[in-house]
Amino acid sequence: MAVREIVLMGDPVLREEAVEVTDFDRALKTLVRDLYQSMYHAEGVGLAAPQIGISKRVVVIDLRKDDEPDVRLALINPRVVWHSDEKDKSAEGCLSIPGLEEVVQRPSDVHVEGMDPDGQPVRVEAQDLFARALQHEIDHLDGILFVDRVSGLKRRMLMKKWKKLRAEAES
Ligand code: NI
Repeated sequence: MAVREIVLMGDPVLREEAVEVTDFDRALKTLVRDLYQSMYHAEGVGLAAPQIGISKRVVVIDLRKDDEPDVRLALINPRVVWHSDEKDKSAEGCLSIPGLEEVVQRPSDVHVEGMDPDGQPVRVEAQDLFARALQHEIDHLDGILFVDRVSGLKRRMLMKKWKKLRAEAES
């Protein structure tokens, strides 16, 4: 069990299509534990395996400190099987893009199917923050970041700010 370094926007692994998990073995359980540890260490509410440099379809979410006392789960090969037409807007950030935040519009409700770390099928019906977290993390498995989900103008502003933040961090 280990806290892993979280990779930042600009690393190509974040832009890859992550690979489906087929072996529900000890290595997968270690990966899930590492994801939880790394997420807690970074004080995030969700983390996807590509964010620790592992291009596999695995995500963890823990919303217990954000007024969702029952939501703590690891999902393997998750996919959105239904989403509402109704959308809502809320600010999002990402552990791979520290310092940036922007309002993102997404469907307010989703149904997600996947598996738990033992390979048992799981179906989740989620709303609001939980639905948003699931969509954000599943996007990571398809190489999509929240900055891709805003208007071109906002995206250009975010990328400009990101360059500035990285230049400051490296100087
Ligand atoms: Ni993220």
